[in-house]
Amino acid sequence: MIRRYRIRYYDLFSHVYDTFIAMHSKDLQQKARNFLIETISPKPGDTVVDICTGTGSLLPLYAKKVGEKGRVIGVDFSPGMLRVAQKKTRSLPNVSLIQADVAYLPIRSEIAEAVSCSHAFYELKGHTANACLREIRRVLKNGHAFFMMEHEIPKNRIIRWLYYLRLLSMGSDRMKEILQDEMYRFRMIFESTNKLVSASRKSKIIIGKKLLRSEI
Ligand SMILES: C[S@@+](CC[C@H](N)C(=O)[O-])C[C@H]1O[C@@H](n2cnc3c(N)ncnc32)[C@H](O)[C@@H]1O
Repeated sequence: MIRRYRIRYYDLFSHVYDTFIAMHSKDLQQKARNFLIETISPKPGDTVVDICTGTGSLLPLYAKKVGEKGRVIGVDFSPGMLRVAQKKTRSLPNVSLIQADVAYLPIRSEIAEAVSCSHAFYELKGHTANACLREIRRVLKNGHAFFMMEHEIPKNRIIRWLYYLRLLSMGSDRMKEILQDEMYRFRMIFESTNKLVSASRKSKIIIGKKLLRSEI
């Protein structure tokens, strides 16, 4: 039931999402996306999966990096968001979109060199976040990683309260977990975890790596 309302909410939001982000974050969003792409550094021929892809802003950037031999897959449960993503990617044959809940990824095992999630993972409820991480691990090839980008705790007091409200909307337990030990869930699933903070200190990327069998 709640899930249905959340999908409806994102369907409605999809009409104004890109305009809202452009107004609200000016060029910060582009800087954050560049930070993510530089960190992932996709290679020609790679397969990259972007979960909770929303309006798919990252997809054309990945498509350019992986080239015609590579593949980019965007996953989201909101048909409205995916409609906007489709407009951005319809001329890109190496991009496909899948409508699905990220707790169950309808993607073959061990096909991806990278999985990313930008500004959405904190919005997943605890059980969905766990199921999603397990699915991401299944889809990744050995020796490759999941890249989860989020905002760092904002310095500006008003924006910081808005950030806390967003976390609180996912429940006080999830909020407490994120503020006290944000790596916890990632450590449960991935053998190696790491956190990078952007030069501006506005964005962070948590990296969960599925090690090669020889590295374990
Ligand atoms: C804040 S938007 C972020 C979109 C995009 N990644 C970006 O950085 O602009 C969150 C997205 O996550 C999607 N989403 C949230 N929960 C989801 C779930 N359980 N399964 C699939 N998509 C989900 C929403 O539909 C929405 O498009």
